[in-house]
Amino acid sequence: MPNALNQIPDGLYAAQDYERLAPEFIEPSTWHYIQGGSGQELTLQANQDALARLRLQPRLLRPLAHGHTRLTLLGQPRRHPILLAPVAYQRLVHPLGELATAQGAHAMDAGMIVSTLSSTLLEDIAPLTHDKWFQLYFQPNRQVTLDLIRRAEHAQYQALVVTLDATIKSPSGRALRSGFVMPDAVRHVNLDRYPTPTSRPLQHGDSMVFQGIMADAPTWDDLRWLQTQTQLPIVVKGVQHPADARVLQEMGIAAQVVSNHGGRALDGAPASITVLPSIRAAVGPDYPLLLDSGIRSGQDIFKALALGANAVLIGRLQVYALAVAGALGVAHMLRTLHEELELCMAQAGCATLTDISPDILFDSASKASPC
Ligand SMILES: Cc1cc2nc3c(=O)[nH]c(=O)nc-3n(C[C@H](O)[C@H](O)[C@H](O)COP(=O)(O)O)c2cc1C
Repeated sequence: MPNALNQIPDGLYAAQDYERLAPEFIEPSTWHYIQGGSGQELTLQANQDALARLRLQPRLLRPLAHGHTRLTLLGQPRRHPILLAPVAYQRLVHPLGELATAQGAHAMDAGMIVSTLSSTLLEDIAPLTHDKWFQLYFQPNRQVTLDLIRRAEHAQYQALVVTLDATIKSPSGRALRSGFVMPDAVRHVNLDRYPTPTSRPLQHGDSMVFQGIMADAPTWDDLRWLQTQTQLPIVVKGVQHPADARVLQEMGIAAQVVSNHGGRALDGAPASITVLPSIRAAVGPDYPLLLDSGIRSGQDIFKALALGANAVLIGRLQVYALAVAGALGVAHMLRTLHEELELCMAQAGCATLTDISPDILFDSASKASPC
């Protein structure tokens, strides 16, 4: 595979072009591991199809000269509503992995969410960007979970993003068929210092799934326990049901990410964008909601905001940009997404993010008042 370039290659006109170019820079089985989804990839496909199906109905002659994409999220002012989703093992595609991603995010004032399973220590990534949240996977041993939290606090991460939709993962058939194996050199180094968790031996008749993998899976009690252990705001990632969203809000969870893990968790789940309106309705207009899964353009971001998200997370596109041109690629991809969002806002007649409402979508616009 060619090394990542030190410049932006020709022919990149849209953020999504990184997806087209990335296979030239990523080893084929790794490409399938990253691009693939779980099961039959129904949800993976649905994420992008549902976004593509939405149509926009622009408005004329609105004043736009003072337009901007600024917002405040969890009390923090931001230049735009684009953050990088937690993506594990980024050294699979670039020797600097998460270090380069952090530099790219910093250059574009984009928040970065660092995965528990990053292939670079969370402490080494932290100094490279001021705007950072730590994504936490509950560990079977609470002391280990607690130690990860303390390390994230000490390294000045500003929020904990607890991912709850991927306790058990069905492997991507595509990755398996392509022979993907995690190289020895790419490890979840944040967990290196802890003893390898041992599972209780299964008895005759036990299920590998329920008494095996799920025996130590987190429950609502663990989330309540977590709330007593940190002052950092807690964001829950992987929300797909309005009833869960409501409970999480009532518990005092600071924000939620509507996500199906980019089609890598339960296959057959609806697209994130499809469940977003019911979740927005459940939590009310003022509660912070983020969305990911399927975002590939500024127009996708616009549609997510129109249906109730305050901000979005970018998953695979960040890895593709990292593979193609390292930190420069990540920064360029983010800049392109931001420009695409601004262009879409201008063409639709929205000067600020608060102007982007469901009325701008064609279906709901037909129900809106004609004045
Ligand atoms: C290769 C890969 C690794 C991922 N690793 C994590 C992870 O460690 N933690 C997590 O919460 N989500 C992880 N995700 C899910 C992303 O955070 C995000 O939800 C998803 O990629 C969004 O969909 P998109 O790729 O279509 O943008 C991963 C996704 C990919 C593709």
